[in-house]
Amino acid sequence: MKTTWRKLLVLNCLFQAGRSSPSNRSNDYHLKPFHIDLSSKVPRMLAQIHGTELPDEPLYVNTGTAKGISLSDLKSLQHEWLTSFNWDREQHELNKIDHYTAQIEGMTIHFIHQKSKVPDAIPLLLLHGWPGSFLEFVPIINALTKKATTASGKKVSFDVIVPSLPGYAFSSTVPPIDWTISDTARVFDTLVTKVLGYKTYATFGTDWGAGIAYNLYDQFNTTVRAGHLAFLPFLPWTSEQLAAANITLSSPLEQYEQATAEEWTNSGSGYFVEQTTKPNTIGLALHDNPVGQLAWIGEKFLNWSDPNAGDAPSVLTHNEILRSVSLYYLTKSFASSVLTYTQNPSGFATEYTKAHTDAPLLFSAFKYNVGFWPEALVARVGNLVLYHNHESGGHFPGIDNPPALLSDLREIATYWAE
Ligand SMILES: *[C@@H]1O[C@H](CO)[C@@H](O)[C@H](O)[C@H]1NC(C)=O
Ligand SMILES: *[C@@H]1O[C@H](CO)[C@@H](O)[C@H](O)[C@H]1NC(C)=O
Ligand SMILES: *[C@@H]1O[C@H](CO)[C@@H](O)[C@H](O)[C@H]1NC(C)=O
Ligand SMILES: *[C@@H]1O[C@H](CO)[C@@H](O)[C@H](O)[C@H]1NC(C)=O
Repeated sequence: MKTTWRKLLVLNCLFQAGRSSPSNRSNDYHLKPFHIDLSSKVPRMLAQIHGTELPDEPLYVNTGTAKGISLSDLKSLQHEWLTSFNWDREQHELNKIDHYTAQIEGMTIHFIHQKSKVPDAIPLLLLHGWPGSFLEFVPIINALTKKATTASGKKVSFDVIVPSLPGYAFSSTVPPIDWTISDTARVFDTLVTKVLGYKTYATFGTDWGAGIAYNLYDQFNTTVRAGHLAFLPFLPWTSEQLAAANITLSSPLEQYEQATAEEWTNSGSGYFVEQTTKPNTIGLALHDNPVGQLAWIGEKFLNWSDPNAGDAPSVLTHNEILRSVSLYYLTKSFASSVLTYTQNPSGFATEYTKAHTDAPLLFSAFKYNVGFWPEALVARVGNLVLYHNHESGGHFPGIDNPPALLSDLREIATYWAE
């Protein structure tokens, strides 16, 4: 009897200790540390990669990479996946970062929360898109938490938050069919302000992540006090539209970027139409097919990045591509990830409108990105304070040109007023 009472007392104390104080209600969101462990699924993945036979000859000769991923690139990646890639090694590295999960609006949200040791670090929410993941920001997370200075000599460091979008990696598959990026924006504002308890923060996004970051910048103007984008959720203009508005592309860099963006519209957006109109077909076709996902996703990493991908400053190596595709495959999230397209058919607005905020907006353009917005267009959608155009890097700047993205992100501190 006595021991039972003592046990109950101990249990009660533990229960009390685990309850959230009024100032920190995180436990209402079941915040807990998270550890990546997908090792048990790896042997089957490797067996499937091994069992996938690719043709001996290209189907359509002498096209290089213009008609999609080349057979030789796909074969080398398949070979490296089986011989030099090691998921357990990647997982071990990734587990050195602080991962968590929380329950928000009935969903599990996975996120990295890497705190700076420097007081008054700026909370910074980094948002990935498709076919990216939280992996896009791994190369810069530690550096962001460290003490540094901006170009203007201001001290800067960040508390870094990198969530997995709903439907991606370790976050839940999107539940309701009409879930949009503005719902994701609301969930992420809850994550930063209610789960983690920050009053204000800055946010950066690429691809769909830019749509979410822009939505936060526009709709959550009391908590989001700086926006930074590498992509816009507004349809890029054609050369004719730019000319009609007297927006001239003065440098060869801008002319190259405009041409690449127009080429994407003409011959690079087939995946976009498929994922918007028939996501189940491509989703189910590739759900249990690692080499199929490698072709579909790997093509985007190769085609949307700097031709020097993998050579400094880029860290977009074959190993990085294999790590990303493995993450999609092993977490069974390919089919749910493509739903983002069908759920947001007007992901690119045609009307350029100004965000409802006085917070600063920063923009980083990268030469090999697939969308291009000259400074004059970006200035139409927010309080643009900084526009940098980089000669290297592409659609995944966190891995394609990490030093440039890092240095631009630090400039947030120049304009940060909370
Ligand atoms: C609330 O608690 C969580 C978990 O201990 C912690 O990570 C977070 O920083 C806390 N937030 C505040 C504002 O103290
Ligand atoms: C463009 O410039 C021309 C010549 O200066 C001017 O007539 C026209 O109104 C301008 N168009 C716009 C949209 O600003
Ligand atoms: C990327 O695809 C486009 C067509 O959409 C093609 O013109 C270009 O050559 C490709 N580039 C690379 C590096 O694969
Ligand atoms: C936030 O948005 C509201 C609604 O558009 C607007 O009235 C308000 O002035 C904005 N606040 C700031 C700080 O920009």
